[in-house]
Amino acid sequence: MSTITFAIVTCSDTRSLAEDAAGAALERLIEEAGWRCASHVIVKDEQPEISAAIVAAADMPEVDVVLTCGGSGLSLRDVTPEATRAVCDREVPGIAEGMRAHSMAITPFAMLSRALCMQRGRTLVINLPGSTKAATENWEGIAGVLPHAVKMMAGGGH
Ligand code: MTE
Repeated sequence: MSTITFAIVTCSDTRSLAEDAAGAALERLIEEAGWRCASHVIVKDEQPEISAAIVAAADMPEVDVVLTCGGSGLSLRDVTPEATRAVCDREVPGIAEGMRAHSMAITPFAMLSRALCMQRGRTLVINLPGSTKAATENWEGIAGVLPHAVKMMAGGGH
C-alpha cells in the first residue's frame, strides 16, 4: 500500500505546540500505521485562522488528509466545524457518523461532537476532538477506511 500523508491542525486557545499531547498522539498513531505527517500547527479557536490553516495544509501537494484536533464541541469558542465547512466542497458524512458510532460504544459524550468530514478537492479534512483519549478513540474508528478513501480521491476505483 502506498503511504498516506497527513497534516495536523490543532485548534486551541491555550495550547502550545510543545503541550499538544493529542496532536503528538496523532503523530504517533500515523507513524505506527506506516504513514507520514508532513506538518503540525496550532491555531487559536478563531474561525478565519482555522480556515486559513486548513487551506494551507490541504493545498500542500503531498497532503492527502488534514486532521483538525479540537474545537468541535458545544462551547461558543468551538468553531472548527464551521471553519471546515467554509473552505471545503463536499461532505463525507459517513466518516463523521462512523467516528460517532465507534465512540458511542465507549462514551455517550460522543453525542456532543459536531465533527465534520469534508473534501477540499482531492484532500480529506476530518475533525477530531481535542483530548488525547477522544482523538485516539476517534482515530481508531476511521483509520482503517483511509487508504481506500485516499485511493478513490486520487481517481482510483474500488
Ligand atoms: N469521542 C470519544 N471517543 N471519546 C470522548 O471522550 N468526548 C466528546 C466528543 N467525542 C469524546 C468523544 C466530547 S466531551 C466532546 S465536547 C466532543 O467530542 C468534542 O470535543 P472537542 O471540543 O475537544 O473537539
